[in-house]
Formats: sequence, C-alpha cells, structure tokens
Amino acid sequence: MKILVTGAAGFVASHLIEYLNKFKSNYEIIGIDNFSYGYRERLVGLNLDFLEADIKNIDQLEINNIDAVIHTAAIAPLPENEVNPVLSYEQNLLNTVKMADFISKVGCKKFIFLSTGALYENDLNFPSKERDHIYTSLVYPTTKMCAEHALRAYSETYGISSYALRLFNMYGPRQDFFRKQPPLIGYLLKCLFNNEIPQLYSDGEQSRDYVYINDLAEIVIELLSNKYNKKTLTALNIGSGVSTSVNEIINYLGLIHGIKIDVQRNPSDLFWQKYPQLFTRKNPLNKNIIKKEVNKYSLADISKVTELTGIKCDTEMYQGLKKCYDYAKEYFEKCN
Ligand SMILES: NC(=O)c1ccc[n+]([C@@H]2O[C@H](COP(=O)([O-])OP(=O)(O)OC[C@H]3O[C@@H](n4cnc5c(N)ncnc54)[C@H](O)[C@@H]3O)[C@@H](O)[C@H]2O)c1
Repeated sequence: MKILVTGAAGFVASHLIEYLNKFKSNYEIIGIDNFSYGYRERLVGLNLDFLEADIKNIDQLEINNIDAVIHTAAIAPLPENEVNPVLSYEQNLLNTVKMADFISKVGCKKFIFLSTGALYENDLNFPSKERDHIYTSLVYPTTKMCAEHALRAYSETYGISSYALRLFNMYGPRQDFFRKQPPLIGYLLKCLFNNEIPQLYSDGEQSRDYVYINDLAEIVIELLSNKYNKKTLTALNIGSGVSTSVNEIINYLGLIHGIKIDVQRNPSDLFWQKYPQLFTRKNPLNKNIIKKEVNKYSLADISKVTELTGIKCDTEMYQGLKKCYDYAKEYFEKCN
C-alpha cells in the first residue's frame, strides 16, 4: 500500500509515519512538508520518501499510484490563523480541496483528513457529539469546518472514502517546544528543563480532552484498511472521553520530576499578547473571545469511533506524560 502523508515533519504526522513503519512495514510512504512549522529532526530514523515541497503545488509533483492520503498539513496555532485569515483559508481549506482534486486525478480512493475538536468551541452540552452543522467563531475551526464540507461534497461526487478525524488535544513526545505559542505540555516541559517559571493565563481549573498520540495512530492504521470504504465523508471524534485540567497536568509533571512546579498566573485576555496586530487594528479582536477560548471545557463523545473501529483512546494521562517528560529530558540535556 502506498500512502501520501502531508505535513510529514509535523508532530502528528511524524508519529503516524513512525507507527506505520513499525506495524505495517510493507507500507510505502511518501511524505511532503515545506517546514513552515515542521522540524527536520522529526524525520530522522523514519522510513519514507521525502519531498520538500508546498502542497499548494501538489499538481506539479510527480506522485502516482497512491492508495491513501493522510492530510495533516495545516496552520494549526489558533492566534496565527487569526493574524492572517486569508493565508489560513488558503492553507487549511484551499489546499485540502487541492489534495482532494489531486487524489481523484491519480485514482486514489481513501482520504484521511485531520480536522479538529476545536469545531465544538461554542458547545454548551457535553460530551460533544459529531454533527454536520456546527457554529464556529475563530478562524481555525471555521477553516476546518469548511474543509470538511468541501471534502464531503467531493467524496460523494468522485467516490472517495474520506474520514475527518476531529482531534481533541493531542500530546506526546516531539510536541513543539519552541513555536511562538507552543501547546501546553510542550511549553511546560520547556520551562521545566530551562528553569523558567511557566506563564499561565487562567486559574488552571479549566479542563480539556487529551489524547496520547499512539492512540490516534492505531485508529489511523485501522481506517486505512479496505473495510472502511463508505463513499462519503465520515466525521469521527478522536478524544479519550476524559477531561483533564491544566492543574492536574502540572501536578502530574511535578510528580514525575519530583518537585512542586510554581507557575505565574496572568489574566486570560492577555493570552494572545504576543500577537499585538490583533489588537491594534481598527476593529480589534474581541478579548472576550480569548477569555472564552482559554477557559474552554472540552470532552469528546467517543462512541462513534469506538463502535466503528473497536478502538478506544485509553492511554492513561500519567503514563503518556511520562513518555513526553523522558523525551524532553533527553532533548534538553543534549541541547545544554
Ligand atoms: N496537535 C493537536 O493537538 C491537534 C488537534 C486538533 C487538530 N490537529 C490537526 O492535526 C494536523 C497536524 O497537527 P500537528 O500538531 O502535527 O501540527 P504541526 O504544525 O506540527 O504539523 C503540520 C505540518 O504541516 C506542514 N505544512 C503546513 N503547511 C504546509 C504546506 N502548505 N505544504 C507542506 N507542508 C505544510 C508544517 O511544516 C508542519 O510540519 C493539523 O491539520 C492540525 O490542524 C492537531
């Protein structure tokens, strides 16, 4: 089986490729990345044919006989989508349409699209259940919602089996430590190993649904099998069905490291202050939206994916965090 993975040097895709190498050694993988957010070091040791390219030019690349696409390339950080919404729609929506068009031209029948649980940002009833029409506010989830709609239409018209995986908060080794606004666990580990006091923007009691990266990889491998062949788009929540607070995560990391982690708390509406252009424009970003996003609760209804695949994302948070910690320790020891 030949699989094209976009965003190969990203956090999620590099794990998916590693997992595919390990458990499906007969799978041939082609990876594409333009390193806009990815890191070359994530590709070390992976077995793949790698193309450094922008997927906006997918039509110009010599790629044939693909059996499946795993499309992960996107602009993922929320504030960066707000700062440049036009680019965000180009990258997250238009490039997804380009990928769908490309695969129908090369005769590929399976498309796994990494969507997001951020679609449920305005939900008030939990756990959040898959449905087609969802009310979004921020640019990032809106681009993903639009991409899902486009992909559904395309899949039904051209007979493609598409799966939109609505990922809740993924975590695992190799998560980004350094981007302007890293994901929480990457950020806490970076602070821990560099003796910095983490700057947090809430009381830490808000909780989210976290999923260990290998649990996602198991589901992706399963969905690549021929038995998942419905010629439409199937949206699946990828969550653990458990919500964990920021304070619980800090406590777990403190236990693993053997210290109490001190943090500095700041007002929630300052969370995106590293992006001043959002506030200096004539119509500035509504700060209440940032407060709401920071303090958002999330919990996935996971019955659909569990019934479909028989797989449950059930890695215990402490165990998953220990793996992240061990990776970060080795990483920062090498740097220092
Ligand atoms: N990590 C999470 O918790 C999470 C949660 C929900 C959804 N997602 C989705 O999963 C996907 C992967 O997330 P991630 O955390 O690995 O993000 P990431 O930023 O680590 O990976 C994305 C990769 O895509 C590459 N890329 C971006 N635009 C490209 C382009 N035009 N051409 C080629 N390569 C390009 C980047 O360089 C990067 O390596 C994204 O689509 C994201 O929206 C992630």
